[in-house]
Amino acid sequence: IKVYVPLDSGSVALGADDVATAIAQKATTAGADVKVVRNGSFGMYWLEPMVEVETSHGRVAYGPVKPEDVDALFAADFLTGGEHKLYLGRTENIPFLKSQTRLTFQRCGFIDPVSLEDYRAYDGLTGLKNALEMTDEQIVQSVTDSGLRGRGGAGFPTGIKWNTVRQAPAEQKYIVCNADEGDSGTFADRMIMEGEPFVLIEGMIIAGLATGATKGYVYTRSEYPAAIRIMNEAIEVARANGVLGENILGSGKTFDMEVRMGAGAYVCGEETSLLNSMEGKRGVVRAKPPLPALEGFMGRPTVVNNVISLCSVPVILEKGADYYRDFGMGRSRGTIPIQIAGNVKHGGLYEVGFGLTLGEIVEQIGGGTATGRPIKAVQVGGPLGAYFPKELFDTPFDYEEFAKRDGLIGHAGVVVFDDTVDLMKQARFAMEFCAIESCGKCTPCRIGSIRGTEVVDKLARGEDPELQIELLTDLCNTMKFGSLCALGGFTPYPVMSALTHFPDDFKPHALDIA
Ligand code: NAI
Ligand code: SF4
Repeated sequence: IKVYVPLDSGSVALGADDVATAIAQKATTAGADVKVVRNGSFGMYWLEPMVEVETSHGRVAYGPVKPEDVDALFAADFLTGGEHKLYLGRTENIPFLKSQTRLTFQRCGFIDPVSLEDYRAYDGLTGLKNALEMTDEQIVQSVTDSGLRGRGGAGFPTGIKWNTVRQAPAEQKYIVCNADEGDSGTFADRMIMEGEPFVLIEGMIIAGLATGATKGYVYTRSEYPAAIRIMNEAIEVARANGVLGENILGSGKTFDMEVRMGAGAYVCGEETSLLNSMEGKRGVVRAKPPLPALEGFMGRPTVVNNVISLCSVPVILEKGADYYRDFGMGRSRGTIPIQIAGNVKHGGLYEVGFGLTLGEIVEQIGGGTATGRPIKAVQVGGPLGAYFPKELFDTPFDYEEFAKRDGLIGHAGVVVFDDTVDLMKQARFAMEFCAIESCGKCTPCRIGSIRGTEVVDKLARGEDPELQIELLTDLCNTMKFGSLCALGGFTPYPVMSALTHFPDDFKPHALDIA
């Protein structure tokens, strides 16, 4: 009997390793023939560690399981899907999962992450096989037609980026996967690298075939040791089975890849400082142009794509551009894995076509706050994203609709705050974060962020508030339009949205800062 216990870092943090050990031990003493499979998470973190059993009527889930629940689960015959207070029914029928449109994360949770057999059994590698039958131009056209836009945050059309690299003449080109997931409240990159690494490998190979790149790198953060281990293991398996290397699936085409680890700087998620870091230099932002697509890693044409962008490619090549394009709204096509976090009842990953409203995401899917208090603000798009008040909860999840309301969807992290949050403190935090993480290359960010914290402190002390608000607004304008990259350029979003939507929080009061 197969029993699934996630190996995902989020689940392990909640005790999944101890649960796996307890189940294996109990099975031995009870003489039960149990094989514990460590799978990825389905992304329902309030139910983790979620244990599943493969029964004659499908996979049945229980959660959240603690090691001390294991005896009672065995006593309740959970190995045959028996009733227990933690019983959740068939996994695929859990409403949070059932109501999603899982294209990118379609296998995550269902498979053993490093089993190529499992991946193939769930139609893995079909997109790659189709791509091997196509010309580079046809692959790029398919990705362009799908409407896929960069899921790292900027939303730049992936097909156009690939075409720039495809047309750039060079003996060596590269695919760099930006897995330096640094936004607060985001975990989609980590979840898919830990739960379904082959889809990223497949997406990178397809990107290589489309652009003429034969070498790929996954640049990820040192804080993701499990993702690094699992990616490396999957790369080995792919190589041993002819999926990576000099003769991909017998086609005579070449592509290989490796994982590189960052050293803990948020700004290394910015593509040019990421490239500097990969080249062994200090993680400082480079001026653009030249675009990495023309002069990237080691000065060669380079595709830099986020994990989720690359993981969205196999399904497009498998089912066709139109299939993918039919999901979504406006110019935001396909699906987006929304990460719901913060003070929320049902935190987790929810993949769905673009277009749900922010209110539907946090109130219906997220279930409101974990504390049960009213929601006051939702920050969308990481630490550089805007704070949305309830009055803007009708905003559809779409790149352009968020931009219209002075926000951004970024890497699709949604962080919920209840009515105890102090938005002036959050505005100060944004400036402080920018000051700490600034690479120091340009003045508006390096100096502006420090001046920003000082101005907020003066506001808090009640020193000439009108002047301080004018200064803060002016400073934010300078940072927005004068910074070299998104770190300094986007810090005004949280600050100005806090000031605009929550002016009462900017009355003089002591800031509770540790
Ligand atoms: P950008 O708008 O400058 O560029 C977007 C991408 O398109 C880049 O890869 C750029 O090289 C490429 N590009 C632009 N014109 C091109 C052309 N003609 N041909 C080929 N490629 C072209 O945005 P940037 O600075 O790369 O990213 C900013 C975003 O990053 C923000 O929206 C923010 O939400 C997001 N972000 C994400 C984080 C995460 O953890 N995923 C962390 C921090 C920020
Ligand atoms: Fe560096 Fe900040 Fe300027 Fe970006 S905005 S280049 S992080 S100093």
